[in-house]
Amino acid sequence: MANWKQALGAIVVLGIAGCGYWAYDRLNTSRSSVADDTTALVDVKSTDAAAIKRGEYVMRTGDCMACHTVPSEDPFAGGYEFKTPFGTLLSSNITPDRDTGIGKMTERDFFNAVRHGQGSKGFLYPAMTYTAYAKLTDQDMHDLWAYMSTITPAKNALDENAGMRFPYNIRLAMAGWNMLFFDNEVFAGDSGQSEAWNRGKYIVEGAGHCAACHSPRNDLGAEIASRFMQGGNLGDWYAPDITGNPHSGIGHLSNESIVEYLKTGSNDVAIASGPMAEAVENSTQYLTDPDLEAIATYLKSTNGAKAEVPAPIAASQPEVKAAALRYEVNCSACHGLQGEGIKSMIPAFAGNNAIMADDATNLIRAMLVGARAVATHDKPTGAGMPSFEWKMDDRQIAETLTYIRNTWGNAAAPVRPEDVAKMRQTLAARPNLATN
Ligand code: HEC
Ligand code: HEC
Ligand code: HEC
Repeated sequence: MANWKQALGAIVVLGIAGCGYWAYDRLNTSRSSVADDTTALVDVKSTDAAAIKRGEYVMRTGDCMACHTVPSEDPFAGGYEFKTPFGTLLSSNITPDRDTGIGKMTERDFFNAVRHGQGSKGFLYPAMTYTAYAKLTDQDMHDLWAYMSTITPAKNALDENAGMRFPYNIRLAMAGWNMLFFDNEVFAGDSGQSEAWNRGKYIVEGAGHCAACHSPRNDLGAEIASRFMQGGNLGDWYAPDITGNPHSGIGHLSNESIVEYLKTGSNDVAIASGPMAEAVENSTQYLTDPDLEAIATYLKSTNGAKAEVPAPIAASQPEVKAAALRYEVNCSACHGLQGEGIKSMIPAFAGNNAIMADDATNLIRAMLVGARAVATHDKPTGAGMPSFEWKMDDRQIAETLTYIRNTWGNAAAPVRPEDVAKMRQTLAARPNLATN
């Protein structure tokens, strides 16, 4: 953690010093000049129904509502808390309220905030995913603006970074961060690829901001470009590899089954939970089938890390036999004797690549605190997974998970009891009763 802070201290200095053309390029907002700079949002009331509808679709794709709304409070009124290692950040009130929202912003100011991370109080923290929205086209931005003008203004005065500790509460530091990590470039398509592929890339890299969770990050919280979509750890969740790699990623899935997952929250093998359940509920279930198909086409074309498929752990070992019995008694009623699960309700383990991810965070988490599956318009009832933390110790949980990762054709590294113990602490789960 100490070097995290030193490094951030260094970029504060960098940010203040500024660096000639480099800085200019990274912080350049000239693309916003296509937007109107005369009328503030409070005075805009779009009547272009088609533009408003398209803008609402951009909002859904970008999942703006999820981050800018506290459940059961006014939509878009902000105040959602982001806990970071440097303190707590709040999302902004982005309703058209004049005094506490973005009512005073012109369309140009709005473009600067959403595509370049330069907001009404200065540089924005990259918890606001402008790093992805930078790719949004002018047309999508105009439509989004039309939609914003239809939102009901709500009063909610916020000081977003008041909970950030010194020196991380200095917005200028984000200029330094941008200089190091912000790819301030328009979307780059590839004319050699199909229209669907290009559309998919645009959604994934742009509004969909999938890499915000699915790419690993460096110590300063920036996505590592060379490991695009190869899996990101979110603390107590893991967003798995969704590259075209057939072993670690989703290369073995049909487009149809990827579309079904994004539309309904589940497919033959996997069921979305946690942050992905939220992404499906608030965002991807609203996308059209051709757009979801486009996402699948693009994701499957991305290269994962070289697949080194490990040999499965031999079933003859005594701890594997004990785990097999434990599985039969505790798990098979739901997940099936052959790890086949129950379609759309209980995830399968056989052929489920997320079960074999190097990072077993989600599996350990499910065992310790249970899980509740996603509920969508198409599949409204989410099934539940009971917790086993009271029933099994760290070693038993690790062995059971190692078993499901290495049976029915699966093969993956063993789960270590230390990792279970660590997660128990993270989740503040109580120690199991059996050993007390
Ligand atoms: C992952 C969470 C997240 C998502 C998704 C998100 N935002 Fe934000 N947004 C934030 C946070 C956090 C802030 C406050 C950042 C700060 O103060 O530095 C913010 C700030 C803003 C601001 C700046 C307000 C001001 O007064 O400067 C605007 C405008 C904004 N968001 C619009 C949007 C729009 C439009 C979308 C969807 C296209 C969106 N946001 C999606 C988290 C998010
Ligand atoms: C807020 C974080 C977050 C965002 C944003 C996000 N995901 Fe996910 N995603 C996750 C997590 C966490 C999981 C694992 C869920 C589970 O195991 O139940 C996941 C799982 C998935 C899976 C299933 C992978 C498998 O092997 O079963 C797919 C496919 C997927 N995400 C696609 C996407 C796409 C496409 C986007 C962008 C449109 C996206 N995700 C955006 C966090 C996120
Ligand atoms: C009552 C039914 C039920 C029982 C019993 C049960 N599970 Fe689950 N399990 C579920 C459901 C439903 C989910 C999906 C929850 C979700 O997607 O949020 C799940 C999810 C999981 C996951 C997470 C999968 C992922 O992709 O992240 C793991 C790992 C898991 N179960 C392992 C086990 C093990 C091991 C046992 C036995 C010790 C067990 N389960 C017993 C219903 C059950």
